[in-house]
Amino acid sequence: MTQNETIWSDLAGHAARLSATTLKSLFDQDPGRFATFSYRLDDLLIDFSREKLDAKSLQSLLELASASGLEDLREALFNGARVNNTEQRAVLHMALREGCGDRVEVDGEDVMPAVRAERQRFLDFAESVRRGEYSTVDSETFSDVVSIGIGGSDLGPVMVTGALRPWHNGPRVHFVSNVDGAHLFDTLAALDPRRTLLVVSSKTFTTLETMSNARSARAWLEQSLGSDQAGAHIAAVSTNLDATRAFGIDNSRVFGFWDWVGGRYSVWSAIGLPVAIAIGADRFNQFLAGAAAMDQHFRQAPLAQNLPVLLALVGIWRRNALNLPTVAIIPYDQRLARFPAYTQQLDMESNGKRTTRDGQPVSIASGPVIWGEAGTNAQHSFFQLIHQGMDKIPVDFLMAARPAACDDTGDFRHQHHNILLANLLAQAKALAFGRGEDEVRAELDAAGMPPPQVDQLAPHKTFPGDRPSTIIAYRELDPFALGRLIALYEHKVFVQGVIWNVNSYDQWGVELGKVLASAITPALVDATATADFDSATNGILQHVHALR
Ligand code: F6P
Repeated sequence: MTQNETIWSDLAGHAARLSATTLKSLFDQDPGRFATFSYRLDDLLIDFSREKLDAKSLQSLLELASASGLEDLREALFNGARVNNTEQRAVLHMALREGCGDRVEVDGEDVMPAVRAERQRFLDFAESVRRGEYSTVDSETFSDVVSIGIGGSDLGPVMVTGALRPWHNGPRVHFVSNVDGAHLFDTLAALDPRRTLLVVSSKTFTTLETMSNARSARAWLEQSLGSDQAGAHIAAVSTNLDATRAFGIDNSRVFGFWDWVGGRYSVWSAIGLPVAIAIGADRFNQFLAGAAAMDQHFRQAPLAQNLPVLLALVGIWRRNALNLPTVAIIPYDQRLARFPAYTQQLDMESNGKRTTRDGQPVSIASGPVIWGEAGTNAQHSFFQLIHQGMDKIPVDFLMAARPAACDDTGDFRHQHHNILLANLLAQAKALAFGRGEDEVRAELDAAGMPPPQVDQLAPHKTFPGDRPSTIIAYRELDPFALGRLIALYEHKVFVQGVIWNVNSYDQWGVELGKVLASAITPALVDATATADFDSATNGILQHVHALR
C-alpha cells in the first residue's frame, strides 16, 4: 500500500468507528469539544465541533494533506508555477490583491508592476465615473451602470456588490448575464440610455451570451445617442484587447487582466470594476486587503491551524469518508444571498472533475454538489429535508456577530439580527442533537394527548439529529471580511483539488454544450434548415416550430 492508500484506509476505519456513536455522545464525552474544534484568525472563527469527526480522524486528514504534497504545491502556486497544467498557465489571482508578496514571476517577469498599474487605471476610472469627471455625452453624471458578463465575469461582481450594499455611494449598478432577452430588456426598461454606462466584462470577449447582450445593449444606446456617440457610454474588461477594439471600445476605457487569472477567480481584477464604481476605490482596496490577509494565513499557518486547509479537510471527510455528495451553504446574512451561487461556480467548476492531473480516471469521489440559499428563508423551503429526509446534507452556516456598522439604525437592526442568529444556532443544534422519540412522547403526554394519537404522531415529530454542520462567524460583513471569506473558500478549493489530484483551474466540461449550441442555433432560426441531429433533439425542434 502507498502512504496515501494507508491513510485513506485509516480514514475509512475512523468513519466506521464513529458511525457507532452520535454527535450527542461526542459532546457528552467531551465538554471541551467546542474549544477543541474551533479555529480562529482574528475575529473569524470556524467551529467544526458539530462535524462528525474526532481528534484521530482529524489527525489522519492532516496526514493526508501532507502526504499529498500540499505544502510544496501551495508554494508552487504562490510562486507562479504553471499549476493549471492542461492550459499551461500559472494561477495567480492572489497577486491581484498583493497576496503573493512584493514580486512574483511568470516566465521570468515580475507581474506585480503591471498588476498595480492596471489596478490604478480601473480604480481611477471608477472614481472618475463616481465623481462625474468621466461623464455622459450630455456632460452629466452617470446615474446607472449595467454590467454585462456571465459566469466568473458576473457572479463575483454581482455577489460582492450585493454583499456590500451599505457602502454603495456611487451610481446604481445592475447586472445582466443570461442570454434570455428578458434579462437585458427587463433591466434596460427602467433606465435612461443618456445616463447609463455599459461595462462589458468577458475574459475571452467571445462568450456567446455576453457578446449577444453587449450587441443588443449597444443598439439600445445607439437608438438614443446615435452610433457615433454610443461608444462613449461603453467600457470593457477583458484579456482579449483585439476583440474589444474590434467591438469599437476606445482603449482608454478597456481594462485588462491576464491569462493566469481564472474567470471564477477574477473579481479581484478589473472584473471588479462595477464593484469599485459602486463602493469606491478605498473600500475596494479594503476588500483586496481582506483576501490578502487570508492568503498570508494560508501560506504561513501550520496545517493544523490553517483555516482553508481545515475547511478543505472537513470537506474531504464529509465527501470521501462519510460519502455525503452535497454541501449546503447557508448564509444567515441576507446580503450574502448570492454567495451560494458564487461558491457553486467556484467549487463545482474547479473540482467537478473525473480525470486526474496526469490524465488518469479519478478513483474516488471528487467535488460535491454545492447549493444553498440565505437563512432564514431556507428554513421555510428545504430544511424539512435536511432535518428529516433520507440523505444527510452537511451545512456551512455563515454569520456576522453584528449588523454592518455603517448600516446601524439602532435597536431595530439589532433586534432583527438577534432573531436571525438565534435561528442559525437553533438549526445547527437541531441538526446535531435532534429530538428523540422519548422526549417527543413525554411532551405530547404532558399536553394531555390520548396515547393512540401519541403513538401516531411521535415518529413524525422525532428528529434523528447527528447531521453535520460547520459555523463560520465573523464580526460584521464589511469589505475586508468579505474579501477574507471569499479567499477562504478559494483556498479550500485548491487544497481539495490537491488531495483529489485534479486540475482545479480548467473547465473543459463546459465546452461541449457551447459547440452544440452553435450548431443547433440555425435550426431554431430557420424552420427549413436541415435539423439532422439525434432524434430527441429533432423532436423538440419540430415541436417548437409547430408551436410558433
Ligand atoms: O462557461 C464557463 C466559462 O468559461 C467560465 O469559466 C467563465 O467564468 C465564463 O464562462 C465567462 O467567460 P468569459 O469571461 O470569457 O466571458
